[in-house]
Amino acid sequence: MSSRGGFSSRIGFIAAAAGSAVGLGNIWGFPYEVGEGGGAIFVLIYLFFCFALCLPVMISEIAIGRSAKKNAVGAFNKLGHRNWNFIGKLGILSGVLILSFYNVIAGWAFGYVIEIGSGNFKVADDFGGFTADAFRMGVYGFFFMLATAYIVSQGISSGIEKAAKILLPLLIFMMISMVIYSLTLPDSMAGLEFYLIPDFSDVNGKVVFNAMGQAFFSLSLGMGALITYGSYLGKSENIISSAVLITLADVGIAFLAGLMIFPLIGYITGGTMENAGRGPALIFVTLPHIFGDIGGMTGIVVGTGFFLLLCFAALTSTVSLLEVPVAYLVDELRFDRKKAVWLMAGIIYLLGLPSLVGNGYSEFFTSFITYGGSDQPVDFLSFIVNVANDSFLPLGGCLIVFFASHIWKKRNLDAELAEGNPGYEGSLLQKYLKFALPYLIPLALAVIFVMTVLSTFFGIGI
Ligand code: PFF
Repeated sequence: MSSRGGFSSRIGFIAAAAGSAVGLGNIWGFPYEVGEGGGAIFVLIYLFFCFALCLPVMISEIAIGRSAKKNAVGAFNKLGHRNWNFIGKLGILSGVLILSFYNVIAGWAFGYVIEIGSGNFKVADDFGGFTADAFRMGVYGFFFMLATAYIVSQGISSGIEKAAKILLPLLIFMMISMVIYSLTLPDSMAGLEFYLIPDFSDVNGKVVFNAMGQAFFSLSLGMGALITYGSYLGKSENIISSAVLITLADVGIAFLAGLMIFPLIGYITGGTMENAGRGPALIFVTLPHIFGDIGGMTGIVVGTGFFLLLCFAALTSTVSLLEVPVAYLVDELRFDRKKAVWLMAGIIYLLGLPSLVGNGYSEFFTSFITYGGSDQPVDFLSFIVNVANDSFLPLGGCLIVFFASHIWKKRNLDAELAEGNPGYEGSLLQKYLKFALPYLIPLALAVIFVMTVLSTFFGIGI
């Protein structure tokens, strides 16, 4: 492998990419979206999107990266389409914005490890007060960014890959233990029923859009993270089976998160599930009460374990978010890796400060903007989520897929996918991609982008 470094094996790549995919989106986002989206029906729609729409986007991103062996911007130049490298620039911007707020939330999780680890379950009684404590949150976030930067500074195989190979199995082990534990509690079956038995009367446009957005974010698509990781993948590896495994790992872990959380909610609500739809507070408010109820040392161990697990999941994602701009600086501007890492980590930490203080500390950033068609202002963090996650990612995904099939051309993509995969030529998947990549998926993503912008910022539509 060149001096850029690379993954030492296919498993290393899969672990790192799955680590990127598995994050706050799976363990914090997925359960609350399921709760708000009416339970099992959301899960079904989510699964459909992951495989029918997102998997082909993932395959395209990895193929572009591996073919060019360059970062998200350089890849477009290397493939001979400099005019299209704005897609990579949009991706880097999205990554920087996402990491700026993602690190704040990861900091909350880290803060919970410390609070619950020292037996303070009361932290959940005043979650608003906790997140408004800007100084303390700033310190927690600082340590989280430090850990992220340290891993990325160590390079691809001895930093990113090694961290994922340690953290991911640990995460899975901890989750399975928690699932077993939560299934033994009284009324846990009511939670399972809510989670696993679909009620088709709950389907509406919003549920479908949220499921799509959640799938996209959860799989780390639309911003060049997988172009970047793909650029470190060897030619002899099979892109398609790797992408399928990454998707299965991501979906599997989100599914486990639900199996862990809904039985706990069944338990605390005595089977009524009335708190299931309480949104983002689900994990930070509802769960600590349950851990507190369990009481004693067991409560502390289970509670701390849960938030530690959330930190591990977040860390392999923040690492991938930081790697996107870092790879750009290293490849294109000839930065030394370590310098690029510390510079970007510093800038992104500072960019995160408005998201940090916008949770009650600063009135200006807390009531930051009021969108058209609404009279409720949203805070800065939510604004960045709406811009970067909800709008830029589908737009980026749409452009990447359009580029792969119309500009780079489907036959180049096919040739890249056939490398390391002799069975690809003539396969059913090839036939599906032939139809889905040029037309169906870009169109679907363009519609999602336009509808999201209209409904979020202008209050029009769904
Ligand atoms: N997939 C991550 C999650 O579910 O938390 C978030 C994420 C990481 C999005 C990396 C995009 C990305 F490039």
